[in-house]
Amino acid sequence: MNIQGPIWGEFVGWYALPEKEVHVWRTTLDMAPSGFTKFWQILAPDERERADRFHFERDRRRAVIARGYLRLLLGQFLDLPPNKVQFEYDEFGKPGLLPEQGPSVQFNVSHSGDLILIAIGRGLAVGVDVERIRTDLDVADIAARFFSANENELLASLGGPLRYKAFFNCWTRKEAYLKARGIGLSLPLDQFDVSFLPGEEPRLLATRPDPAEASQWRVRALDLSGDYAAALAAPNSKWGLKCWDWDPLILVDGAKSA
Ligand SMILES: CC(C)(COP(=O)(O)OP(=O)(O)OC[C@H]1O[C@@H](n2cnc3c(N)ncnc32)[C@H](O)[C@@H]1OP(=O)(O)O)[C@@H](O)C(=O)NCCC(=O)NCCS
Repeated sequence: MNIQGPIWGEFVGWYALPEKEVHVWRTTLDMAPSGFTKFWQILAPDERERADRFHFERDRRRAVIARGYLRLLLGQFLDLPPNKVQFEYDEFGKPGLLPEQGPSVQFNVSHSGDLILIAIGRGLAVGVDVERIRTDLDVADIAARFFSANENELLASLGGPLRYKAFFNCWTRKEAYLKARGIGLSLPLDQFDVSFLPGEEPRLLATRPDPAEASQWRVRALDLSGDYAAALAAPNSKWGLKCWDWDPLILVDGAKSA
């Protein structure tokens, strides 16, 4: 079992998305103005309006860049120009593709700090979460409010930097699971336990009220730099995981044109 998570590979060229694999793409918010303009142009009107509603410029940039990357990626896998990709949203806001566009392609996005992660699976519901590890938070207080009693006890057993890393491992594993299910906070966070201690294999340990749910999902850790924690969740069937570092310049310029 690979507890450390997969190695990130450099993207070398387009390929068909295989069955029974989840691919995760990592990129950054760092983008030249020309790339930003290109992304703005491929967004749908409702996506531009949503981006413009953000109060802070950084949040606006993030909304445009994350959605632009998502459109580029999905456009490649669906063989469509990025501006022709169409989304729908479930009752909790999870975006998916219109069924007629790609019934088997599912995806999820997460961003934190400068990083953007996009997970794509064929025929697999996926959830991904990344968080920049912050040491200016009262993690014991947040855990007391949101995590389960078991998780609180284990977290309290750790001291110093280990506690912060473990807290964000716990947080991202919980969020990845919720995001894979697409149910937001309709399932309270203390209604399930994940493993998160240093060196522990990532797992959904227990679910309440339905204990059978725990065996239906698989959680993986994604290794990033020491400043970030990240996790991926998908159904507990056999699937492989590949992780790609995305060089924006190559793929923005190489994308199908509208
Ligand atoms: C929607 C939600 C999942 C976003 O989480 P977040 O950490 O703020 O943001 P992330 O960057 O990880 O994810 C945002 C992306 O998730 C996707 N998303 C939105 N609603 C979603 C949902 N219900 N399920 C799955 N994905 C969702 C969107 O693609 C969004 O990206 P976009 O805004 O650029 O389109 C979050 O509001 C939520 O419901 N979280 C539940 C758990 C929680 O709050 N945990 C805290 C302590 S463990």
